[in-house]
Amino acid sequence: MNFGIIGCGSIAAVHAEAIKNIKNANLVACCDIDIDKGKYFARTHFCRFYASFQELLHDDTIDVVTIATPHFLHAKMAIMALNNKKNVICEKPMAINMAEAQMVVAAIQNSDCQYTVCYQNRFNPAMIELKREILNNQFGKLRGVSGIVTWHRDANYYNSTNWKGRWSTEGGGVLINQAIHTIDEIYWLAGMPVKIKGKIMTASLDDTIEVEDSAMATGILPNNIPIVIFASNDYSSDPQPQMLFDFELAKIKLSANSLYINDEPVLINKQKPTVGKNYWGIGHQKLFETFLDKIVGHTNALTSYLPCIDAARSLEIVRAIYESDRTNSWVKLNNYVGENNC
Ligand SMILES: NC(=O)c1ccc[n+]([C@@H]2O[C@H](COP(=O)([O-])OP(=O)(O)OC[C@H]3O[C@@H](n4cnc5c(N)ncnc54)[C@H](O)[C@@H]3O)[C@@H](O)[C@H]2O)c1
Repeated sequence: MNFGIIGCGSIAAVHAEAIKNIKNANLVACCDIDIDKGKYFARTHFCRFYASFQELLHDDTIDVVTIATPHFLHAKMAIMALNNKKNVICEKPMAINMAEAQMVVAAIQNSDCQYTVCYQNRFNPAMIELKREILNNQFGKLRGVSGIVTWHRDANYYNSTNWKGRWSTEGGGVLINQAIHTIDEIYWLAGMPVKIKGKIMTASLDDTIEVEDSAMATGILPNNIPIVIFASNDYSSDPQPQMLFDFELAKIKLSANSLYINDEPVLINKQKPTVGKNYWGIGHQKLFETFLDKIVGHTNALTSYLPCIDAARSLEIVRAIYESDRTNSWVKLNNYVGENNC
């Protein structure tokens, strides 16, 4: 399988490393509008360089493209890639609003190619184990869920690119960029809330960014089960996000690296990524590998863990929190992708 990477910034190095470590995968091309950066990336990773993604999409040797560009470009690039018969691995989020997300979903449904989004934490060992146990109905009824993400993103982080911190290009702040992983995991493990009420604010970074750096929300699952979410980019470091699941028969504590059941460690993973930030985790390679297996029809237990059109659900939750803050009211979630995944 030949890969092309679109966007040669921070996360692209993680994509290149994942591709390098997969037996039947080759990185053959990359593209960036920043020519110097893109050419340097191409030299470092021994691949061809294109100055436009349209050119890369016309390269018939490429089977899979990864989209590692600013958020506002994801929907447009994914749709064009699918229309050009490329399989697509898109960085999160799927899009920056639901109108765009619906267009991506339509393109996926009209394509013979495969599509996924980098919710790589679904492939962390602790997450894989908890999902398996929940699917086997090990813990009885769910009573509540909590998700907490407190990270450090300062002015340097926002000023280092021209797209972060702005509604039109990032689509939001801590919710759509950092906490969306945890929001995806909550939806994936506990289900889709029927309504949500939330508040956003810009605190430490109010002289740097227009989007929120902090947010909190309460969602309600069917049967009145509460989900509470707290996220902030104003913390001093980047601890692993933490999720709590209050089941009738077990209290679960989950982070990217560890799973505790009733305060007993069940799984502690000490593996660290060799490229990229520790808090990006180790899941990209497993996600890429599982995606390649799906393309060639080799399905296994992890195939259903791959995000597909259900990647729209975390975006729907995020957008509903923004809408709730704007209207100061509960917002109903349509869950318009329903039970379908790819
Ligand atoms: N999954 C994760 O854990 C994780 C971690 C970090 C970043 N991300 C995601 O990765 C994506 C990129 O983030 P980043 O931090 O690498 O950003 P970045 O700004 O470092 O890199 C983006 C690159 O895209 C290039 N680009 C912009 N417009 C382009 C175009 N039209 N064609 C081709 N290239 C173009 C830019 O020049 C830049 O080099 C975002 O969606 C972000 O949310 C995901």
